[in-house]
Amino acid sequence: MTKKTIAFSSASVTNYFDADFSYLGKIVSKDEGIIITDENILKAYSKKFQGWKVVAIKAGEQHKNQQTVDSIIDQLIELGADRQTFLVGVGGGVLTDMTGYVAAIYMRGIRCGYVPTSILAMVDAAIGGKNGIDVGLYKNMVGIIRQPAFILYDYSFLKLLPQAEWVNGFAEIIKHACIRDVAMFKLLEENKLTDFQKDKELLSKLIQRNALLKSKVVAKDEYEHGERKFLNFGHTIAHAIENLYQIPHGHAVSIGMGVACKISEQLNSFSDTTRVTGLLKKYGLPPQFEYDKEQTLKLLRADKKKEKDAISYILLHKIGKPYIASLPFQQIETLI
Ligand code: GLY
Repeated sequence: MTKKTIAFSSASVTNYFDADFSYLGKIVSKDEGIIITDENILKAYSKKFQGWKVVAIKAGEQHKNQQTVDSIIDQLIELGADRQTFLVGVGGGVLTDMTGYVAAIYMRGIRCGYVPTSILAMVDAAIGGKNGIDVGLYKNMVGIIRQPAFILYDYSFLKLLPQAEWVNGFAEIIKHACIRDVAMFKLLEENKLTDFQKDKELLSKLIQRNALLKSKVVAKDEYEHGERKFLNFGHTIAHAIENLYQIPHGHAVSIGMGVACKISEQLNSFSDTTRVTGLLKKYGLPPQFEYDKEQTLKLLRADKKKEKDAISYILLHKIGKPYIASLPFQQIETLI
């Protein structure tokens, strides 16, 4: 196990990489801890949860809403949760988001930590402190920024991860490579998904590299006034089309990165679109999609990154060199 603590402006987060789930008992006492997970994970890993109090919610992004928050809070009250309680979210991005959000509002805030069980949650969703819920089609419309106390990475959870979820997670890894790590971009070009699936060491290094890359970007700019915005590469279009078409988050981000590369090409002669789309395709991700422009633009107008009649769009000068462009909606309409 490798322990790495990252200091954010509001709190420090301890990462336990390559750990075993049983180590959770050393971080949180079973008297104080309550695990929040989903029904599928509870069924698959019931043995791991023995001795822990567990609240299980229905799996899926469609349940990341206020109704589920209310039901978790009801169950916490029934379990006698108080200000000493430590919530532990075990699952994918939906779980870490919901756990962080409930922990922030229950009794005006209790401690929480995460055990991410998908690639996407390990390299992205569990990190950064943004926790929110969807409101209708609007993704993460309500939420907070609040860091967990710890993140425990037990890669054995990936054994049962469906192939589609592996692909989903690699969209965020490719995003990190595009905005910050050209050496990782090359590593991804030189390997393929099955290489990472077969080689535990290679995968473990990749997850840690991505988790630390994101943590360091966020640590410099926790409340997203500057550099953190780069992590939104591909996410402007993604957030609009993900719930509209019920497509997986990774696919939506991949499509969004494809669009952002094309815009970068039109606005500043970015010349590596084919390299990025080639890498996306190599990892089973779609760089294009026929979406309804009008409906997408309507959702973009409600985006959190909107400023009056423009949106902060993350574009690329070259791989590893992103920049922020404030694009008026009128211009976006002609560009996408
Ligand atoms: N929880 C995801 C983030 O903060 O970016």
